[in-house]
Amino acid sequence: MTAVIAIIVIAVALLVVAAVFFVLGRRDTTRAVGTLSAETKSRDRDRRSAELAKQTTDVEAWTPPTAAEIGVSRRQFLNRGIWSMAGLGALGFGAGLVSFLWPRVSGGFGSKITLGQVSDLKAKIQAANGFYYVPEGQLYVVNYPASALPKARTTYQPAELAAMEQGLTVLYQKCPHLGCRVPPCLTSQWFECPCHGSQYNQVGEQKRGPAPRGMDHFSTSVDGGVLTADTGAVIQGAPIGTDTTGQEPAGPHCVSGGE
Ligand code: FES
Repeated sequence: MTAVIAIIVIAVALLVVAAVFFVLGRRDTTRAVGTLSAETKSRDRDRRSAELAKQTTDVEAWTPPTAAEIGVSRRQFLNRGIWSMAGLGALGFGAGLVSFLWPRVSGGFGSKITLGQVSDLKAKIQAANGFYYVPEGQLYVVNYPASALPKARTTYQPAELAAMEQGLTVLYQKCPHLGCRVPPCLTSQWFECPCHGSQYNQVGEQKRGPAPRGMDHFSTSVDGGVLTADTGAVIQGAPIGTDTTGQEPAGPHCVSGGE
């Protein structure tokens, strides 16, 4: 019995010693592993630092781009914007001007219009009952009697007489009173304005109404028997009281003329 107790005591003692050794050994191992881990971390840190330093030296420091590199500075952009707007405005103005002047350079109203051969024009006047209308020139071509030429030569300008000498005259359709278009009256064979009743004989001389003068003429020229009217050159109508033809109304008036 004593021997058994001694064996148990020895076994317990051995277990205690083994346990102590085990614990101490583990502490050393943990300490060694911790030391190893710290060394590894340190090495990693060093390696990263080295890489970062290398990257830092590889990447150039950022500097803002210069105006030349950008190409357009704010001021330049503003200046170019202003000039662009001014250019567009000038372009629009130029287009408007060309549009306004276009008839003068394309043969419409405001330019010289070739009316045709004098003989052809007389035929057209007859076909139109005494008043040949040319819409693009806003004008009428009518006969001018040869018997009235002596008076005409003392009344009208050479630019009007050019057509009159050929037996024609060219009248602007616009009433000298307030600008209405004056239509012919086929029964009276006069021009009679529907707006305020001004009346003119067949060659546009004022007879009645508020108009301050006769109907205006266009400058004319004849070349090779061809009559041309310059609708850019208006010649004011003859003064009130001018009556080179003595033409009386051929029939009833179309409007009641103001006396
Ligand atoms: S506009 Fe022709 S009479 Fe007044």
